[in-house]
Amino acid sequence: MDKVLKIAHRGASGHEPENTLAAISKALEIGVDIIELDVRACKTGELVAFHDMTLERTTNGSGLVADTSLEDLKKLDAGSGERIPTLEEAIDLIDKRTILNIEMKGKGVADRLATILRGYIENKVYPPELFIVTSFDKEEFHQFSLKNPGVRLSILVGRDILSASSRGRKYGAYSIHLPQPYMRKWLVRFFNKRGFRVFIYALNSIWDIARAKIMEVDGIFSDYPDRV
Ligand code: G3P
Ligand code: MG
Repeated sequence: MDKVLKIAHRGASGHEPENTLAAISKALEIGVDIIELDVRACKTGELVAFHDMTLERTTNGSGLVADTSLEDLKKLDAGSGERIPTLEEAIDLIDKRTILNIEMKGKGVADRLATILRGYIENKVYPPELFIVTSFDKEEFHQFSLKNPGVRLSILVGRDILSASSRGRKYGAYSIHLPQPYMRKWLVRFFNKRGFRVFIYALNSIWDIARAKIMEVDGIFSDYPDRV
């Protein structure tokens, strides 16, 4: 059995504020295989690492990210004095040391993301395998696939598991990312047989992580990737 991949969910977000450079640094220090970050577009068009549509839960600001300029986002405290990073700041900090799973959130991300990743691959000689792109938003995901500069695509399953295999085939997906309720050995086997790795999100208890390993999943997202 291959070793299960340690995936830092929103960075090592159990240890440091989610989707920040501190959470990325902690994940690198732990020695994860993959870092997952949520990415959305702000008012001025830049892509930032941020999970929610609104600023309230994780910052001292308020309102929609999509209605806030990068300059104003940069003034906010994203926890423990951390700032909201741009996607480029996150990629530069990782500096090819681990794979980055970019989860597109909201609208208007796909084209810009494809351009940014193409820049890293073509101008900065990043191997395309260092990037995995997913989204719950099927339209954004499809849009990204049309402009894909050669990175790995993965099917992110929320509730719609029935179409996962056919979508995986359509996009030549590298992996299928399943939420915890779908953690079943027969599903892992089903997707593995069709050529997809199976990663489960997001498991934090040692018990759940142990069960996932017994089911021979290929990767585990965790806020505490040191537990994987
Ligand atoms: O990409 C896996 C996982 O991050 C999806 O859920 O809400 O934590 O972005 P969420
Ligand atoms: Mg996510």
